[in-house]
Amino acid sequence: MRGLVLAGGHGTRLRPLTSTGNKHMIPIANEPMLFYGLRQLAHAGITETGIVLGPIHEGIREAVGDGGAFGLKVTYIEQGPPKGLAHAVLCARSFLGEEPFVMYLGDNLLERGLQSFVDLFVRERADAVIGITPVNVPQQYGIVELAGARILSIEEKPRHPKSNQALVGVYVFSPKIHEIIATLRPSVRGEYEITDAIRALVERGDRVLVERVHGWWKDTGAPEDLLHANDLVLECRLPEEFSQTGRVEAGAVLRGSVAVGDDSVVEAGASVQGPVVIGRGARVGRGSEVGPGTSVGDGVQLNGCTIRRSIVMEGAQISGPLHIRDSLIGRYADIRAQGPISWEIALLVGDSSRLRL
Ligand code: G1P
Repeated sequence: MRGLVLAGGHGTRLRPLTSTGNKHMIPIANEPMLFYGLRQLAHAGITETGIVLGPIHEGIREAVGDGGAFGLKVTYIEQGPPKGLAHAVLCARSFLGEEPFVMYLGDNLLERGLQSFVDLFVRERADAVIGITPVNVPQQYGIVELAGARILSIEEKPRHPKSNQALVGVYVFSPKIHEIIATLRPSVRGEYEITDAIRALVERGDRVLVERVHGWWKDTGAPEDLLHANDLVLECRLPEEFSQTGRVEAGAVLRGSVAVGDDSVVEAGASVQGPVVIGRGARVGRGSEVGPGTSVGDGVQLNGCTIRRSIVMEGAQISGPLHIRDSLIGRYADIRAQGPISWEIALLVGDSSRLRL
């Protein structure tokens, strides 16, 4: 069985972060979100994995390389302008050959991984396994209507959903899916939808099985989703995974689970309330307060500011009496308060931006 990870897509709801970088390289708990899926594929025993790249693929090849660090053997597949999930499969046709494959949307995170999907597929000799989970806004997802285990309907982002059971971004397919994809026509939104292909499999009477997802699942389409994913990953991390190899000065206050990476320093007079991860070569300066649910990337400098439930990416600098929460701060952003700002602010700041507040 092969793996196919989709890392194209425009990530429009995360602009400006996705104007300069690939969405799948945005860090969750200081690691590109793409890495979580790659590890889960390896964990399920998959080696040969294709990564489908769209027009913006900055950093993916450099970070993942040949996949050896994950126990994978990675092949890169260029999708060009993304025209839907089924189009990505079409682009990967020669890589996939006549083997079954797990398709993993690279912006999805699943607490319990995908082993159960693969097990069900193999055990039941299925033609497809799809994962479902209940959601609050079914209009934003592929929606499956069931009678027991039988699929009655499956629709992509329906205006009038027939259920609240959404397709999660993990699918296992036999090579039969290629016959269907070859005949697909674009949907009203102009995309070749994998949901349409799955519906055709069901209508043809092929064996499409449903796996109910246990544990949390997150599709990181919007800023709040990223923050929530960051919360979930930090909360689920075991206390022993928060190692402190950096320096914590006497007089710094650390509470809860806090990781401090190599060559980082938490200065006297700073306080950190976990769960928090601080990468390498970062500085949490005197008077700074870092609150729960925050990831502080490599080389970040925090000076006299308060920040909670945020993702601060590599090399960013934040100075001054500022209260930041629920924010995404891009790589090498430079944010300075010119004078005290007493109210809390929530920011979405692109890479290398300069803010003088
Ligand atoms: C895609 C699929 C949708 C699925 C979702 C899960 O939508 O088309 O069926 O429910 O992923 O993340 P997208 O997030 O690309 O709009």
